Amino acid sequence: MKIINKHFSHINSTNSWALQNAHTLDRDALTVINANEQSQGRGRLQRQWHSPAGTNLYASFCLFTGAELQTIANISQVLALACAELLATLSLAPTLKWPNDLLVNGKKIAGILSETKPIDETRLLVIGIGLNINMSEEELSNINKPATSVLIETSKEHNPQTILTLLEEKFQLYLETYLKEGFAAFHAAFTKLLRFDDEMEFSTDQIKVKGKIVKINPDGSIMIELKDGERKTFYYGEFV
Ligand code: BTN
Repeated sequence: MKIINKHFSHINSTNSWALQNAHTLDRDALTVINANEQSQGRGRLQRQWHSPAGTNLYASFCLFTGAELQTIANISQVLALACAELLATLSLAPTLKWPNDLLVNGKKIAGILSETKPIDETRLLVIGIGLNINMSEEELSNINKPATSVLIETSKEHNPQTILTLLEEKFQLYLETYLKEGFAAFHAAFTKLLRFDDEMEFSTDQIKVKGKIVKINPDGSIMIELKDGERKTFYYGEFV
C-alpha cells in the first residue's frame, strides 16, 4: 500500500483532522497525518494527550478497511508492535500493555487512539499514535500518570520526523503481512513483549473485574482469569 504524508506545523489533533477530512483521503493508500504540535491532542477515554511543539511524534495512520471490530483492534496492535520494535533498535526495552500502550520501565512512552468513521460503503480507520521522544522531566511532570520519553531513557535526542519515517516503513511492511496472514503472524512477537502483572484491574464499558492475564489468543484478544477462577476472553477494554 503506498504511503501519502501530510505534515502540519500546528493542528488541533491529527485524529480529528483525519475524521473531519475523511472524504479527501485516498482510499487505496495509507495516509499519515502528522504535526509538530497539537493544541487539542486526545487520548483514550476522553483524556488529554500532552502535545508540546517539536518534541514528540504525533501521527495518525489512516486507511480504509472492513468494519469488523477485531480487524480494527488488530491493526492498532500491529502498529504498537512496530513501534515497540523500533524503540528496541534505539536501545530501549519496551513492553506492551494490552491492547496497545507502550511502556518503558513501567512508565508510559506511547499511546494509541483508534477511531473509525463510515464513508459511503466503506470505513475509514484512523490510528493515532503519540510517542514521547524529547520530552524533559519537567515537561513529563505535567502528565498525571507515570510517563517517560526516549530522551529520559537513553539520554539522546532524536528527530521526530526521522522516527516517523522509520515507523511508517515498518508499519507498511507489517500491514501487508497482517492483510495476508492475519494477527497470528504477530502473536508470538506480541506475547513476548507483553507485560504480565500478578493481579490487575480490567474494565470495559460494561464490567469491571480483577484478575490475571492467562494469555493473548492468536486473534489478539486477551484471556483473563478472574478471582473465582473463571476464565474470560475480552476483545476490548483496558487495565486501570
Ligand atoms: C492514549 O494512550 O490515551 C492514546 C493517545 C493517542 C495520542 C495520539 S497523538 C496523535 C493522535 N492525535 C490525537 O489527538 N491523539 C492521537
